[in-house]
Amino acid sequence: MAFTIKVNGQTHAVDVDSDTPLLWVLRDVLGMTGTKFGCGMALCGACTVHLDGVAIRSCITPVESVGDSGIMTIEAIGATPAGAKIQKAWLDREVVQCGYCQSGQIMSASALLASNPHPTDSDIDAAMSGNICRCGTYVRIREAIKQAAQSI
Ligand code: FES
Ligand code: FES
Repeated sequence: MAFTIKVNGQTHAVDVDSDTPLLWVLRDVLGMTGTKFGCGMALCGACTVHLDGVAIRSCITPVESVGDSGIMTIEAIGATPAGAKIQKAWLDREVVQCGYCQSGQIMSASALLASNPHPTDSDIDAAMSGNICRCGTYVRIREAIKQAAQSI
């Protein structure tokens, strides 16, 4: 079935089953492999993208549900004000270890800062609680979010 979806400001026509997860469309059809597959069950956050600015799990989002909403992925987040500050803070704080979870972490963090430029610790915990990091980078993630918030 043919769908038209808008990803990072560009319109794409894709021909997939209607229940195909958005994650598969991004990775396998459009070749945007920055968004990662972890659990496939909305439990780890590796597949987080933005749908009209809201962080969602693309592994459980059927492509047919996207409609006219705008999708943003890790490939474009650095072009947004919040995303640029988050990425700079991630580098400054040397957040990343293996890196596998980090696309999702950055997408959740940038959605948080875009909607709440000065989050409290509990705001950060609430926004980031669904993003799992097997390398345990949580302390540096929180420091980086705070650094980014201070520069807004
Ligand atoms: S792959 Fe989507 S939440 Fe884990
Ligand atoms: S940096 Fe390795 S899983 Fe998070």
